[in-house]
Amino acid sequence: MKKLVILISGRGSNMEAIVRAAIPGAKIAAVIANKPTAAGLAFARAHGIEAEVVDHTAYADRDAFDNALAIAIDRHEPDLVVLAGFMRVLGDAFVRRYEGRMINIHPSLLPSFPGLHTHRKAIESGVRLHGATVHFVTPTLDCGPIIAQAAVPVGADDTEASLAAKVLVQEHVIYPQAVRWFVEGRLRVEGNRVTVIDADLPSDGWMVPLPDA
Ligand code: GAR
Repeated sequence: MKKLVILISGRGSNMEAIVRAAIPGAKIAAVIANKPTAAGLAFARAHGIEAEVVDHTAYADRDAFDNALAIAIDRHEPDLVVLAGFMRVLGDAFVRRYEGRMINIHPSLLPSFPGLHTHRKAIESGVRLHGATVHFVTPTLDCGPIIAQAAVPVGADDTEASLAAKVLVQEHVIYPQAVRWFVEGRLRVEGNRVTVIDADLPSDGWMVPLPDA
């Protein structure tokens, strides 16, 4: 059984999608939030998952917070740390500690639009395709080896909110899928490239859903 710790900052809908996927061989050991107000904590508790808060405002600096977070995570001895809408930048030492066993979902087709306000940037830049990326976490923000991506069309009438909603639907598909591949030991990383061994659907880590009819 592979143990997962999921980190959230707010709503936690990606965490919820992973919990609901009930991935064989995966046990969600804990959900940890950096904010006591994170709405996802209630869902985790209601599903019998240990839910904790490591409040970043209680720590003097990033290193102190990262250390406290690492202690909270390591108590569960996870095989995989899953960042699911976790909105704190993590220091290099923290990231190296979990190298190869920490993944993130980002709401853009990386390497386009790292950082915040990805949907606004997509609209302003005029791209026709936008989407979401699941990747291994490395010290450079939103830059690690890509495991899965899903694309959505950007319509002329799309707003930041409508685009975010379309992307989120795909996030909930590719994140549980990527976690499952990790749990099944199917991911091989060479440099910045990830190969999915015997990938089932969707194709080797990418999908382009059909636009709404
Ligand atoms: C998701 O759209 C996720 O991709 C994004 O925050 C949202 C969290 O939603 N993450 C980032 O922007 C990380 N840089 P959720 O709390 O409902 O999963």
